[in-house]
Amino acid sequence: MKYSTTTSVASRRAGSCIIVGIYDRGRLGRAATDIDKASKGLIRDQIKRGDLIGQLGSSRMFGSIDGVKAQRVLVVGLGKHNSFGITQFRQATAAAMKVLKASKIADATNYLTLEEVKGTSPYYLTRYSVQTVGDSLYRFTEMKSGRSRPPVSLKRLGLALGKRGDSPTVMRGVQHAEAIVDGIALAKDLGNLPPNICTPSYLGRIAQRLAREHKNLQTRVIGEAEMKRLGMHSLLSVTAGTVLPAKLIVMKYKGTTRQAPVVLVGKGVTFDAGGISLKPGPGMDEMKFDMCGAASVIATMAVVAKLKLPINLNVVVPTCENLPSGTATRPGDIVTSMSGQTIEILNTDAEGRLILCDALTYAKRFKPAALIDVATLTGACVIALGHHRTAIMSNNDKLANNIVDAGINADDRGWRMPMGEEYERQLKSNFADFANVGGREGGAITAACFLSKFTTGMDWAHLDIAGTAWRSGTKKGSTGRPVPMLSEFLLKRAGALP
Ligand code: BES
Ligand code: MN
Ligand code: ZN
Repeated sequence: MKYSTTTSVASRRAGSCIIVGIYDRGRLGRAATDIDKASKGLIRDQIKRGDLIGQLGSSRMFGSIDGVKAQRVLVVGLGKHNSFGITQFRQATAAAMKVLKASKIADATNYLTLEEVKGTSPYYLTRYSVQTVGDSLYRFTEMKSGRSRPPVSLKRLGLALGKRGDSPTVMRGVQHAEAIVDGIALAKDLGNLPPNICTPSYLGRIAQRLAREHKNLQTRVIGEAEMKRLGMHSLLSVTAGTVLPAKLIVMKYKGTTRQAPVVLVGKGVTFDAGGISLKPGPGMDEMKFDMCGAASVIATMAVVAKLKLPINLNVVVPTCENLPSGTATRPGDIVTSMSGQTIEILNTDAEGRLILCDALTYAKRFKPAALIDVATLTGACVIALGHHRTAIMSNNDKLANNIVDAGINADDRGWRMPMGEEYERQLKSNFADFANVGGREGGAITAACFLSKFTTGMDWAHLDIAGTAWRSGTKKGSTGRPVPMLSEFLLKRAGALP
């Protein structure tokens, strides 16, 4: 998609299509007011006749209108004027995209960006526009045989500006958003690929390919022999039941000299059958998404490298499968983690924390300015927050707040949950330093408490994306979250935001 900006009024804008909005109760948006005037009241007439409604997400295409230069006008409903926020803006934009996607139209100009949207700015409106376009154009067809659907015709999208002076920040918004859209698409692709293709080695190859594409980026893929030398017996215990080799992917991006890096750690379980604590059959296919944490941190690295942000960023991805077999780890086994702490594995299905803990210990060597792990860690998180928000746990208030704020700005929301000694006690073991599970109650929190035993002395946050990383049902597929949240956090750190 090619993006451009324009300050011309809607009725004077040439091209195949302009997108304008109307609210409910007959209230017109900015551009719709102009179109109405230029067409001598066409829009208001249509509303009076009941042929145009302002219901959020509704849309109607008009052919050539007298007094309007563009060949078509797409009128979309914006809903209630006083509740028109970011979500509604994105919904209306998505509705317009749905119409355009199904048409042969090659160029359009979006005038919804002229609306006043609560709590935002031209820069962020651009980000949301471009990201919504990216989301609606995403397709995963790699695994389909036969002829693919015809490509989308839309090639050029104009964004309307209130004032010419906004153009530089808006174009910066386009640039940032396009990198984020590509990152989201990469994360979605990796998540959607089947577990017989997206294996630990495959993730390693993707990380190496990225390093070839970007000059300031290095990737190293560590194998099981070196993991053994490093003492990563917790990680190795999870991979004991599969024939596929586990990998530890380490990526380093240097965008500046002398500065402690941010380190992102992503859970990369390419299939989680539960191990000997086998999961029930129905829906088990969705455990191919158990590597979405890994996908999101690798994709965020791609965003940062593409934008050449002046920060240092390291990514560490422990990746393996969790399968049952005669060589698999048993409930009751005790392992020594790389940190030296011993773990009683009471449930082999609580494997994410077992691979993350050794990766977090490994990350310590980078002396991170901030350490953030991302994982589809617990079903309990889905029960607590549903599918709308990512859980955030942290040992540092400032870091937690910065991540929450990044989620708000990027419209990829999180919610902080508590940790503490009361919860930590649930992990007590009679035989080892602690157990890998703490019972059903507060399961997302006790999982975070487990990880916290490996992050002392570092500013650390844990993102549980079990509810947000993918959708089930007929819309089954990876969401690419939390790439927008993480990218926003890093853009802010890099001082790249307006
Ligand atoms: N990958 C799962 C978490 C998960 C389950 C995410 C369902 C999304 C949907 C994780 O490895 C797991 O199995 N966690 C267990 C932990 C329990 C044994 C303490 C869970 O949540 O049931
Ligand atoms: Mn599991
Ligand atoms: Zn898992």
